[in-house]
Amino acid sequence: MDLTNKVAVITGGAMGNGLGITKVFLAKGAKVYILDYSDDLKKTIKDLKKDYSNVIGYIVDIRDKKMLDEIVEDIKKEEKKIDILVNNAGVAKLATFEKMSDELRDYHFDINIKGTWNVTKAFLPLLKKSKAGRIINLSSVTGPMVADVGEVAYATTKSALIGFTKALAMELVDKNILVNAILPGYIMTPMVQNIAKETDNEDPKKVIESIRLGIPLKRLGTTIELGNLALFLASDECSYITGQTIVIDGGSTLPETNSVGV
Ligand SMILES: NC(=O)c1ccc[n+]([C@@H]2O[C@H](COP(=O)([O-])OP(=O)(O)OC[C@H]3O[C@@H](n4cnc5c(N)ncnc54)[C@H](O)[C@@H]3O)[C@@H](O)[C@H]2O)c1
Repeated sequence: MDLTNKVAVITGGAMGNGLGITKVFLAKGAKVYILDYSDDLKKTIKDLKKDYSNVIGYIVDIRDKKMLDEIVEDIKKEEKKIDILVNNAGVAKLATFEKMSDELRDYHFDINIKGTWNVTKAFLPLLKKSKAGRIINLSSVTGPMVADVGEVAYATTKSALIGFTKALAMELVDKNILVNAILPGYIMTPMVQNIAKETDNEDPKKVIESIRLGIPLKRLGTTIELGNLALFLASDECSYITGQTIVIDGGSTLPETNSVGV
């Protein structure tokens, strides 16, 4: 699979899954625009520039529609089209339903749902100019398939992205824009490290270890493995899949029970 001459926009690429996807896309020849609100983006771009010239960063909060429109105008000076949009930026903070404030709920809804909506709305005109457009949304197994205590807000948003993916896929099919969602299980990223700290501040390593033991492949996924799945969905080889959800979880949603078996 090759992404030479493809232009990609990846949100949340300063670290974690977005950075893994960025590295894979750059290695396959794509030009990548990263949108991220973290100052870490500056260092990420500096590091990536050691190996690749085709990577550009914009510091922006995807809740800020006005700034997104300004970025689109700026990118238009360089590009006639974009080919791939990866809606990866997302947040997860644990709190039970009864303890969750409306502010914390809206923080999840505003970034994970409305942020994805904003970015897609802003970049769609450029994406429609591609002959083979691709939108890849980062959902999760959390929500559509499984959940743990404290994940109500996060799970709600990640389920919402499935509806978004399917309905948008129908609307864009005549433009040859394929829209799919990736549902990761546990991939080792700063988000997972933060969740481990929220769960047990004294011993976050123990939390990661117990996550690991619950995964049939007995390890967390890497951001490059996640990037390789995104690569397939972004590539010309993926030409007959749209509106679908693809799980990458090391088998974590597979066990039927812990108590039956020989
Ligand atoms: N890591 C996992 O195990 C896992 C599992 C399932 C789904 N996911 C999904 O993958 C995506 C990436 O997760 P991750 O684990 O890499 O998270 P992460 O926290 O490690 O990285 C997320 C990145 O998104 C950026 N970001 C967050 N909110 C933003 C905003 N409003 N505007 C701009 N940038 C913003 C952050 O600055 C950061 O660089 C998320 O959508 C997440 O829900 C992750």
